[in-house]
Amino acid sequence: MKVVIVKDKTQMGATGAKIIADDMRGKPRHVLGLATGATPIPLYQELIRMHREEGLDFSRTTTFNLDEYIGLDPAHPQSYRYFMKAQLFDHINIPKENTHVPDGMAEDADAFCEQYERMIRDAGGIDLQLLGIGSNGHIGFNEPGTPLDSRTHRTGLTESTINDNARLFERREDVPVEAVTMGVATIMDARRVLLLACGENKAAAVAAAVEGPVTPDVPASALQNHEHAVFVVTEDAAAGLKGDYERP
Ligand code: GLP
Repeated sequence: MKVVIVKDKTQMGATGAKIIADDMRGKPRHVLGLATGATPIPLYQELIRMHREEGLDFSRTTTFNLDEYIGLDPAHPQSYRYFMKAQLFDHINIPKENTHVPDGMAEDADAFCEQYERMIRDAGGIDLQLLGIGSNGHIGFNEPGTPLDSRTHRTGLTESTINDNARLFERREDVPVEAVTMGVATIMDARRVLLLACGENKAAAVAAAVEGPVTPDVPASALQNHEHAVFVVTEDAAAGLKGDYERP
């Protein structure tokens, strides 16, 4: 695992977007795993700029999002499908049929999860998976305690995640309590993983993920065993790290 410490969110977005663009340029039919949350927004803005100003081409890219709330319609402003459309898909030349976000309204969620795994496999697997990190160390919606060999599954959200995400909803009671998420093993299958973290509220989770033991208690720690995982972390989110890391 490689760690790069950057000064702020803008540099985090630019560094991450360059890693993605370089990977895409090396493989025309690129399969990109995407994430939601506030953290990847500067990266998406930079990808949109690269598309507009440098001709970064998404016409043959396929995307798979990490997760989605159960019970939110794609038209709901807090659904992850809506987020992706507003933050990225509407601003680049990706065909809609190439974009996949788990279906939070599937009648049979378990069958849907199996189907999602199949779709990822049929696309040739994920070339690069983008991740954020929860303040409790979760990746996707793999909350602490999720087995490291988990595949796409239906899961309950912890109180801490519901609290963290409540800021985006009108009332705390409106936050869905369940989600569909790629599993830790699904994420580990990606050829490359890029995790972004910013903000002092992520410092403990980043330190545990990078320098703590590999344990289901901190799902992001599994990435220590990934051959091509890069963490791009702002100074404040890196405050708990003790080691010496690259600072471009
Ligand atoms: C949610 C998402 C995660 C994301 C996390 C952090 O729980 N399921 O994929 O990484 O929030 O979000 P933020 O970047 O807004 O801190």
